[in-house]
Amino acid sequence: APASPADLLDLAVATAREAAALITRERGSAAAAVDVKSSPTDVVTAVDTAAERLITGRLLAARPDDGLLGEEGASRPGSSGVRWVVDPIDGTVNFLYGLRGYAVSVAAQVDGVSVAGVVLDVPTGDLFTATPGGGAWLSTREAPEPVRLSGNRPVSLGQTLVATGFGYRVEQRRAQGAVVAQLLPEVRDIRRHGCASLDLCAAAAGRVDAYYELGLKPWDHAAGALVAAEAGLVVTGLPGRPFAEPMAVAVPETVAEPFLALLDRLH
Ligand code: IPD
Repeated sequence: APASPADLLDLAVATAREAAALITRERGSAAAAVDVKSSPTDVVTAVDTAAERLITGRLLAARPDDGLLGEEGASRPGSSGVRWVVDPIDGTVNFLYGLRGYAVSVAAQVDGVSVAGVVLDVPTGDLFTATPGGGAWLSTREAPEPVRLSGNRPVSLGQTLVATGFGYRVEQRRAQGAVVAQLLPEVRDIRRHGCASLDLCAAAAGRVDAYYELGLKPWDHAAGALVAAEAGLVVTGLPGRPFAEPMAVAVPETVAEPFLALLDRLH
């Protein structure tokens, strides 16, 4: 029988919790086993690899016919129509430095559309979940609560607290820096937390107002974008372009038009 989004979500939550336990346990060994990927800023630790192996192993044990796409190389077409998109540690640099702000991100997709999304903030235990039409939820150590924008703020760009991030390729970083320099005088302020999935969830929870980033990969946004959309944000690309191709934007309706127009002009 085709799996329901609720069942996929339960599996994603259980798997993310197991991975978070592994990541916390192995924290001390991360610095000893670090490697670089596409550029010297693009790091991967042995813990990323071990967490991805744990997650993909658990998912396939439960659902052997599913497909996989993981940041650390998991890739498998599958035959069930469901594909899991996994970032075992989003925010690897924070993790490596002992900073907060890293998460396990797990999404189930059907035809490239997320039908269940889980972002688990490892150091705080905050668990963000969403299914299409089921709303976005935040479970703290206490109890689950719905995550929903209030709908009347911010009222202007000047009051908009913006989160963003930077990719790893040097040319891309140069371009992103130029956009930030021009955006900064137009908005309340800018945050760079270092974890795209948590940036999307922060926007969902109103901890920042808006988020944008150029050049995200599917595992960075597959779960977080569903959380943001279900919380009531406009989740979109630049005007006339699809989400994340090349820019991912999550912005409250109240300032969507000027924010998108500005990004379009600066980009
Ligand atoms: C990165 C983080 C960062 C974002 C980068 C991502 P990783 O993911 O989410 O905030 O700016 O674009 O690649 O490499 O830590 O999983």
